Amino acid sequence: MKTSVALLSLLVASARAGNVVWSGIFNSSFAVADFDKWSFSNEIAPWQWYIHGPGATSEYLAVSPNFKNPADTSDAQGIKITIDGTSFWNGQTMERSEILPQTSANIGTGHLYYHFSLMTSTTNPPNAGFEHQIAFFESHFTEIKYGLIDGEAGTTDNLLRWDTNSQTQWSTQLVANNWYNFAYDIDFSGGTCGLWASNGSAPLVQIKSGISCSPSSNSADWHVGELRLPNGGTNAAAEDWYWSGVFVEQAPITTSIAGPFPGQGGSAGTAPPSSVSSVGPTSVAPTTTVVTPTPVPTSSSTASASGPTQTIWGQCGGQGFTGPTSCAAGSTCSVGNPYYSQCIPS
Ligand SMILES: *[C@@H]1O[C@H](CO)[C@@H](O)[C@H](O)[C@H]1NC(C)=O
Ligand SMILES: *[C@@H]1O[C@H](CO)[C@@H](O)[C@H](O)[C@H]1NC(C)=O
Repeated sequence: MKTSVALLSLLVASARAGNVVWSGIFNSSFAVADFDKWSFSNEIAPWQWYIHGPGATSEYLAVSPNFKNPADTSDAQGIKITIDGTSFWNGQTMERSEILPQTSANIGTGHLYYHFSLMTSTTNPPNAGFEHQIAFFESHFTEIKYGLIDGEAGTTDNLLRWDTNSQTQWSTQLVANNWYNFAYDIDFSGGTCGLWASNGSAPLVQIKSGISCSPSSNSADWHVGELRLPNGGTNAAAEDWYWSGVFVEQAPITTSIAGPFPGQGGSAGTAPPSSVSSVGPTSVAPTTTVVTPTPVPTSSSTASASGPTQTIWGQCGGQGFTGPTSCAAGSTCSVGNPYYSQCIPS
């Protein structure tokens, strides 16, 4: 009896954890240099990194707490994935910056949800004249697309769309600084595709389900990143896409944008990510969104002149933050969003 109760609570606990089968969640220790530790002779989880241009990895990838959907408290950081005029990989005519899961799990079987959130900014915005393939599989049975699609009339198209069977099933105008949250609903056994989506911090809602498709994956062909078709030319202008909340789970779906490990990466409680200081000036928030600032916690009694101070670029406030709210000399606490304030050099 005791055993079955223990077993039951274990099952409940694992169900609550969302049955994550592969996690691309970024903890606070993760640094861009970690991508370069992966190679075909050193296949370390959780990411493969080989589809990119000849520049240094830091030209195409950057991680920072400012690059995630602030409502996502599973990730400590998000990732900025850049494509630019150098992003030709392996002699191809497409520009590509893509990270792929590295896992021994089978993420091409059963009924799975592939989660990710996406944002663009007014800095290095995407070119609406070029077709983009985003978060796609090799066989393109389901994918996000953006821009002027091959064969489409006109010169630009600002639609962000979800395609399955190369047909657009859902679309919306791309708005800078808005986080788009998605989960592909893929039944590899039943041969159907669907989509869950939301904006900002809103929980995912089911958009489409049960569309007949031909899902397949070798567990190493989900392209988290962007492929740009520059219409035969080269376009030097860089584009930045921000990603967070990347993971794959079995049913039941986690609809909360806090993600599968709420608070673990979070805006709450922990020391500022050590990687922030090395990110330096580029770690300023990519958005210029005007948010109603949550007042930085006042510290009249707790942080007197002798209280702890936060280092330059460290976190100094935000919902749930319990660390130092005073900044080191030469910096001031600046509200980035309701979840994150940062010590910026003054
Ligand atoms: C952070 O994540 C990486 C890979 O995602 C992992 O290898 C590392 O052990 C994690 N570090 C901590 C402190 O959890
Ligand atoms: C997100 O907001 C846009 C613009 O208001 C809307 O068209 C779209 O349907 C929303 N998406 C979801 C998934 O709610």
